[in-house]
Amino acid sequence: MTAQLNPRGDVAVLVPAAGAGVRLGPGRPKALRLLAGEPLLVHAVRRLAAARSVHTIVVAAPVAEVEAVRELLAPVAPVSVVPGGAERQESVAAALAAVPPGPEIVLVHDAARALTPPDLVEAVAAAVRAGRPAVIPVLPVVDTIKEVGAGEVVLGTVDRSALRAVQTPQGFRRSVLTAAHAAAGDALTDDAGLVEKQGVPVSCVPGSEYALKITRPFDLALAEHLLTSGA
Ligand code: CTP
Ligand code: MG
Repeated sequence: MTAQLNPRGDVAVLVPAAGAGVRLGPGRPKALRLLAGEPLLVHAVRRLAAARSVHTIVVAAPVAEVEAVRELLAPVAPVSVVPGGAERQESVAAALAAVPPGPEIVLVHDAARALTPPDLVEAVAAAVRAGRPAVIPVLPVVDTIKEVGAGEVVLGTVDRSALRAVQTPQGFRRSVLTAAHAAAGDALTDDAGLVEKQGVPVSCVPGSEYALKITRPFDLALAEHLLTSGA
């Protein structure tokens, strides 16, 4: 059954899903790779559609897969599908351009974070609604982090207490994200990084272990295990 999005919701979610998935190994584009028998993108969109504030979902698909992705998602939720770009930032920009007038909160969410709970989507949106211009979900860093130089020789130990691992969805006032993308110029940064460059404060909310980014085969195996234990 197709989930209904909330026509009175104030949130649009952009889902960059146009990456190849090189680190996952040979196969279809990552968003279309199967997790417990369904593509990662289906898992991700189903959870987004279950978040009650979500009014619009725009997916940026691999160029050759736009029609296939439309058909795949039609039974899941009403979504728009646009062709993505060569870099993640271009895919986000393409999706942003397709958001209809209305939603004043825009979330950017990796298809690769397929098990992200609807509650995290709502928590990020709520923080933007409460007045924060930009909001990112974060987790504490658990490993010791070292800076290394030439020849893999350690230069120093970074103070872990000041570090956070950043997840998605990242949430923005619509005008803030639009302005940041209009000025974009650094393919290496995330959406919050673009906003930081505009001098806009970015706030953190607690992330979720379930919002892990499925990057390598190990992550896929972990996600499979999490799903069978109720994620
Ligand atoms: N993405 C995108 N367009 C691109 C590159 C990435 O929409 N040109 C999306 C991916 O589909 C993914 C998210 O951005 O949902 C995060 O990127 P990443 O985890 O790096 O995915 P891939 O780029 O597919 O993986 P890899 O880097 O291993 O090829
Ligand atoms: Mg990538």
